[in-house]
Amino acid sequence: MNLMQDIISRAKANKQRIVLPEGTEERTLKAADRLLADEVAEIILIGNPAEIQSLAAQFGLKHIGKATLVDPKSHEKKEAYADLLFQLRQKKGMTPEKAAVMVEDPLYLGCLMIKAGDADGEIAGAQNTTGDVLRPALQIIKTAPGMSVVSGAFLMFVQNKTYGADGVLVFADCAVMPNPTAPELAEIAVATAQTTKAIVGMDPRVAMLSFSTKGSAKHEMVDKVVEATRLAKEMDPNLKVDGEMQADAALVEAIGSKKAPGSEIAGKANVLVFPTLEVGNIAYKLVERLGDAEAVGPILQGMGAPVNDLSRGCSIDDIYKMVAITSNQAIGLKTTK
Ligand code: ACO
Repeated sequence: MNLMQDIISRAKANKQRIVLPEGTEERTLKAADRLLADEVAEIILIGNPAEIQSLAAQFGLKHIGKATLVDPKSHEKKEAYADLLFQLRQKKGMTPEKAAVMVEDPLYLGCLMIKAGDADGEIAGAQNTTGDVLRPALQIIKTAPGMSVVSGAFLMFVQNKTYGADGVLVFADCAVMPNPTAPELAEIAVATAQTTKAIVGMDPRVAMLSFSTKGSAKHEMVDKVVEATRLAKEMDPNLKVDGEMQADAALVEAIGSKKAPGSEIAGKANVLVFPTLEVGNIAYKLVERLGDAEAVGPILQGMGAPVNDLSRGCSIDDIYKMVAITSNQAIGLKTTK
């Protein structure tokens, strides 16, 4: 998988400060040790330093000494971060008292470190649910300029190399927005095309998926995808996007040319945008399990700084790769600022 090697090399060439709030979690610590040994990123571990060191010794880890350890209960910037949290959220009912408690929550602390400029990105989710990882990021880091929606993309490495770009496709949204409106779906399409360029380095050809191809079915759910396709073209006139279309028309040349003749996307899509989270989440898991594909993500897009969520079933290797991807996003954001 050369793409992953390229992503890791880009991370090593411009090391970013990545905060891991689940610093005492076994897979996280083991991934951190490998990342530090390979010099992929500067690692910040949140957790009780004595506990982290004792676990590192127990697991035979040799490189944790190179990480920065931040004790959420006592560190020199605790008050400053609590004040930042209060300032950012006072209109939403935050009080100094509540902020003083919440700043000890590693998931809030990680996002506050990023907001304060003390870290470049975060990965969590080996222990916490998606909602718990995302909520502080949405509240503190918020969306990137010009974006109003955060969504989650997966890199899909499928067995059949005739699909996508040599077997690589990008699926979204598979992780965040349960039921996007047409303008939100358009933004998801534009953001996924940007992720595809920045992380995969391929020219995005975006298919807006539905159960209908070019008017073959009539339904308000189809209308939403038609409208989102129009809006996506309006948002980015250079975007190669077409829809509404069914998945087979998007992926298979012979079917695409029949169902959507003249489309520059049908039969050639490498980015699939799903109409709802239900479809996107189920689709990526089915392709992964039944199609024996590798799924890397979710890569959160549209956020002001990269925060990525892990599945609670993640492996050490998944965490390692997501740190490299998060670093690439951070590098991408810095170069476009
Ligand atoms: N994009 C941008 N901002 C958002 C988004 C979004 N998609 N969703 C919520 N926000 C903002 C809100 O505007 C709000 O901001 P404010 O407090 O400054 O006004 C803040 O985030 C909190 O919003 P709430 O709606 O109160 O937060 P809530 O906890 O209800 O929902 C969440 C946000 C966690 C993302 C929710 O939509 C969710 O749980 N989504 C599904 C996640 C999930 O379970 N995915 C499937 C598993 S992932 C996997 O399998 C890979």
